[in-house]
Amino acid sequence: MEAASASVVYVESGRMSQRKRTVIDILRGSPGFVSGQTISDNLGISRNAVHKHVNSLRERGYRIVGVSRRGYKLEEEPCRLAMPIVAKLTQNTLFGHSLRYHDEIESTNAEAKALAADGAPEGTVVIAECQSKGRGRLGRKWTSPSGKGLLFSVILRPPLPMTEAHLLTLVSATAAAEGIEAQAKIPVQIKWPNDLFLNNRKLGGILLEVSGEHDSVEWVVVGIGINVNTEFAELPAPLRRTAISLKIATGQPVDRSVLLARILLALEKSYLDAVSSGFERALRGFRERDYLLHRSVSVQTREGPVVGEAAGIDDRGALLVELPHRHIRRFHSGDVTLQ
Ligand code: BTN
Repeated sequence: MEAASASVVYVESGRMSQRKRTVIDILRGSPGFVSGQTISDNLGISRNAVHKHVNSLRERGYRIVGVSRRGYKLEEEPCRLAMPIVAKLTQNTLFGHSLRYHDEIESTNAEAKALAADGAPEGTVVIAECQSKGRGRLGRKWTSPSGKGLLFSVILRPPLPMTEAHLLTLVSATAAAEGIEAQAKIPVQIKWPNDLFLNNRKLGGILLEVSGEHDSVEWVVVGIGINVNTEFAELPAPLRRTAISLKIATGQPVDRSVLLARILLALEKSYLDAVSSGFERALRGFRERDYLLHRSVSVQTREGPVVGEAAGIDDRGALLVELPHRHIRRFHSGDVTLQ
């Protein structure tokens, strides 16, 4: 089901069952606690089933307190992007003409790829408050609590050969960094090839997926995930030493709607500049923010790890690593860790 307003299409995922909606409606209708029995009588389901629905709503960002013998109380609903504001700030732009908003989705990249394969025009943007199967690079997962991050994917149809498509990762990372810096007034670094870094921790990432034939790109999906208002306790435990959000770094909540618009505008500018004039601006933007430069790194390759000192990127976007005897090796892809 779809409902449209201006350039925003609100796509109803249909994933939230009528029962969960009713649980929310009952909790919303009461300022105090509602007993599990009242909800179970209302829905005609067991109290155990009520408990399961409540837990699943918690996973979707609803803060529901449960107290034995008193029941449940809705304390906070998940934050939503103000899409009319995003539409207004991006009106009459390429990346503002079709904003497809989902409360929940498996993956904005997967959805954007399906739309692209179906012929959706360049500049279509898929946005979600949360993803059940968010994807990262190298088969990793991307998780973010509902309403706390930015999760979106943009469809591009660049007039480029396949051999240049990967450079759009640098374009996208630089644009995302510019948008964040303008909004949060903090310097963002880029860890080659696709990570956004802040205070030595990962703030976000870019996942580029490309389709094409005979050396020409048919479509590119640029997926961007950024931890914006995520609290420290909401980061997955294994990532608490390596990840960060803008709110954790600055102590201030960030207006996600304005941030999304800023990034879309910066991305459009950098993208149009890259396809019309080449990648110099993006390469410069990357080099100004190169997180790895002069650090001792280990690049995972099929033959095993290669250790050396990061020496920037070349004009094709490849990572340069200085090995002993000043020998420079180029890497076009790979996973890099600090030594
Ligand atoms: C990475 O760091 O490995 C890249 C992470 C990219 C995550 C974003 S979130 C929006 C878009 N949809 C996805 O499934 N992945 C990207």
